[in-house]
Amino acid sequence: MAAAFFFLLMPFFLVPASTHLQSNEEGFISTVISEKGLDFAKDILIEKAISSLTPLYLPRVEKTLRIPLIGNVHFGLSNISIYRVDVRSSYVKPGDTGISIVASGATANLSMNWFYSYSAWLITVSDKGNASVQVEGMEVGLTLGLENQQGTLKLSLMDCGCYVKDIDITLNGGASWLYQGVVDAFEGKIRSSVENAITKKIKEGILKLDSLLRSLPKEVSVNEIVALNVTFVNEPVFSNFSIGFEIDGLFTAADKVVSSGNYVMNSQLSASCKGPVKMLEISLDEDVFNSASNIYYNAEVMQWIVDKVPDQSLLNTASWKYIVPQLYKMYPNNDMNLNVSLSFPPFIKISPYNIDSTIYSDVTIDVFDNNDTIPVACISLVVNASGSVGISGNNLVGSVTLVDFTMSLKWSKIGDFHMYLIQSVMRTLLKTVFLPYVNLHLGRGFPLPIIRGFTLQNADIFCASSKIYVCSDVVFADSYKPKLLPYDLTHPLLGFGV
Ligand SMILES: *[C@@H]1O[C@H](CO)[C@@H](O)[C@H](O)[C@H]1NC(C)=O
Ligand SMILES: *[C@@H]1O[C@H](CO)[C@@H](O)[C@H](O)[C@H]1NC(C)=O
Ligand SMILES: *[C@@H]1O[C@H](CO)[C@@H](O)[C@H](O)[C@H]1NC(C)=O
Ligand SMILES: *[C@@H]1O[C@H](CO)[C@@H](O)[C@H](O)[C@H]1NC(C)=O
Ligand SMILES: *[C@@H]1O[C@H](CO)[C@@H](O)[C@H](O)[C@H]1NC(C)=O
Ligand SMILES: *[C@@H]1O[C@H](CO)[C@@H](O)[C@H](O)[C@H]1NC(C)=O
Ligand SMILES: *[C@@H]1O[C@H](CO)[C@@H](O)[C@H](O)[C@H]1NC(C)=O
Ligand SMILES: *[C@@H]1O[C@H](CO)[C@@H](O)[C@H](O)[C@H]1NC(C)=O
Repeated sequence: MAAAFFFLLMPFFLVPASTHLQSNEEGFISTVISEKGLDFAKDILIEKAISSLTPLYLPRVEKTLRIPLIGNVHFGLSNISIYRVDVRSSYVKPGDTGISIVASGATANLSMNWFYSYSAWLITVSDKGNASVQVEGMEVGLTLGLENQQGTLKLSLMDCGCYVKDIDITLNGGASWLYQGVVDAFEGKIRSSVENAITKKIKEGILKLDSLLRSLPKEVSVNEIVALNVTFVNEPVFSNFSIGFEIDGLFTAADKVVSSGNYVMNSQLSASCKGPVKMLEISLDEDVFNSASNIYYNAEVMQWIVDKVPDQSLLNTASWKYIVPQLYKMYPNNDMNLNVSLSFPPFIKISPYNIDSTIYSDVTIDVFDNNDTIPVACISLVVNASGSVGISGNNLVGSVTLVDFTMSLKWSKIGDFHMYLIQSVMRTLLKTVFLPYVNLHLGRGFPLPIIRGFTLQNADIFCASSKIYVCSDVVFADSYKPKLLPYDLTHPLLGFGV
């Protein structure tokens, strides 16, 4: 039951919504669970509810009844248990005030022991046996309220009812008068016991779910550098066929240093997935990626010494003999390395057909002279790359290809030299070293905060203005165990220099 409800939480995703309630709050990841997704969640919920419901023991009941020709008979039922429940049909419907779930045409099977005793001519007559009861046409309905309470979701049971239409009692053994006696004495009692027990069990279940929801962290640590802020913002949005959630969704520094990024919200919560209906729509604003970029940049991990390249001769001044003659003249046949450091956080821009990224970097050429490392020149490099994204497991993964780049000489200890001369060397380095390195990290991706147990399946991804949408079904692997961290965060974020 709990697991199922976690599904409703799936809002570990993205984007900003119309924030009329708390205008100061912005969510950059939002999730919309479609009717199909709600149906899926409901089915898991019911399956879990049934398995947690059975066996359900009901209190023993006793009663004294006057039976014609016999007199006062003391009846009792004990060891009453509901050992099987089947639900024939069910539906879930979000409404303005909450989510209604109705299971109808449910049946239940009960087993119990019966006994009776009465006095006749100074002796006591008694007997016992067992009985089975079939409960038919049971209706169970509940309405759940879901609200944002200081960044976590609060689940409440607004309404809950169970109605038993018909019961059929079969006694094993006993005299014929006994049957009518038991039916007269206990039919109503069994009916209301079943109704009360199921209602009570649902109340307990919802309380448990609520406390699990509250135990969801507001921040999930991704690696030693970044954490994802998964605080819920704004109220869940209920439409007739879907529920939408928003979370803050920005990356923060793992050491709690507040990021310096200044983000502007410009989007709204609306279903955008096209094509076959999927269970979930997760949208991620470009600011999610830019927040990660900022944190990594501020953590000063976006630095990289290049000392191994596919064509190692490129890291010897001999290869530069003709393009930068003065370098070779001053340091003939010396080995070099390149110190690449970013000069601004990489900037990511998402448009309907492209993900563009601009990377500003300084490439310092270091020459080894005896045991010294001598920086000889620094080139400012602005690289424009085009990105694509995909899903691997529950991770959003990416890759980039080179679009274009510009260079300028920032400083030099070996005199001026023309950038166009080293253009092709730089292009080769970008294509064979720099971008493959970036892609290695992007290929690991970062985890979409999907509740443990659920895995994305048949995901489609598309870009719109400033956002990436993931439209996906999910599958549920029923190995749910409550954990403090219900998120499956097994992969480090795209980690430059990590
Ligand atoms: C009580 O009922 C269960 C089945 O629901 C049965 O296994 C058990 O033997 C019963 N106990 C007694 C004392 O009859
Ligand atoms: C119920 O009683 C019948 C015989 O009267 C017996 O065969 C059966 O095992 C009993 N069932 C239980 C659960 O006690
Ligand atoms: C449970 O009850 C249903 C009717 O409500 C009946 O068809 C079914 O055979 C019963 N199952 C068991 C295991 O007694
Ligand atoms: C939602 O359903 C109600 C009645 O069930 C209807 O009045 C309302 O127009 C529906 N809203 C939308 C947006 O479909
Ligand atoms: C996480 O997001 C919430 C809501 O936007 C915000 O109030 C909180 O300060 C954020 N936490 C951090 C560590 O940035
Ligand atoms: C690399 O260059 C940056 C500045 O561009 C400098 O701060 C850093 O110390 C250099 N790293 C090494 C190992 O030389
Ligand atoms: C370079 O360093 C190594 C060991 O660190 C030392 O043996 C060698 O003499 C040094 N060479 C020069 C030219 O200083
Ligand atoms: C790189 O992208 C920026 C911003 O999108 C643009 O202004 C610039 O002209 C592009 N430069 C190259 C070399 O493509």
